[in-house]
Amino acid sequence: MQLEDIKKVGVIGAGIMGHGIGFTFALNGYKVMLHDVNEKILSKAMNNVKMAIKIFVDGGLISPDMVEAALSRLATTADLSALLQYGFDKLILVRHPEFLKNRAIGNWGIGSADPFYRGI
Ligand SMILES: NC(=O)c1ccc[n+]([C@@H]2O[C@H](COP(=O)([O-])OP(=O)(O)OC[C@H]3O[C@@H](n4cnc5c(N)ncnc54)[C@H](O)[C@@H]3O)[C@@H](O)[C@H]2O)c1
Repeated sequence: MQLEDIKKVGVIGAGIMGHGIGFTFALNGYKVMLHDVNEKILSKAMNNVKMAIKIFVDGGLISPDMVEAALSRLATTADLSALLQYGFDKLILVRHPEFLKNRAIGNWGIGSADPFYRGI
C-alpha cells in the first residue's frame, strides 16, 4: 500500500494521544473515525479537539476554513462494529498495550503485520 492509497483512517482510543492523532489526520485531508468505549469519552475527546483548535487558530497556525473542513472529516463512534464497517485504509491503536496482549486484534482478523495497522 502506498501513502496516497490511504483515504480513511480508524483510530481506536480517543484519550490524550488518540484525539490529537485523529484531528491531525483530519486536518491533513483524511477521513477519520475515532472510536472509544463510550460516548462520554468521545464527547470529552471532541472538547479536547476544540480546545486544540482554539490554540491553533489563535496562534495563526490554521485558518477557520481549515477547521471547518477538518471537523467535517472527523467522526466518532462508541460502536466497534461501526468502525469496522467504516472500511478504514489505516487503523491506529492508541490504547494501553494490554489491548494488544488480550488478542483483541486477532479477534478482528487483523495482524500487526498488516499494512493498514499501526499501534503505539
Ligand atoms: N500520552 C502520551 O504522551 C503518550 C506518548 C507516547 C505513547 N503513548 C502511548 O499511547 C497509548 C495511549 O496513551 P494515552 O495517553 O492516549 O492514554 P489515555 O488513557 O489518555 O487514552 C487511552 C484511551 O483508550 C481507550 N480505550 C481503552 N480500552 C479501549 C477499548 N477496548 N476500545 C476502545 N478504546 C479503548 C480509553 O477509554 C482511553 O480513552 C499508550 O499505549 C501510551 O503508552 C502515550
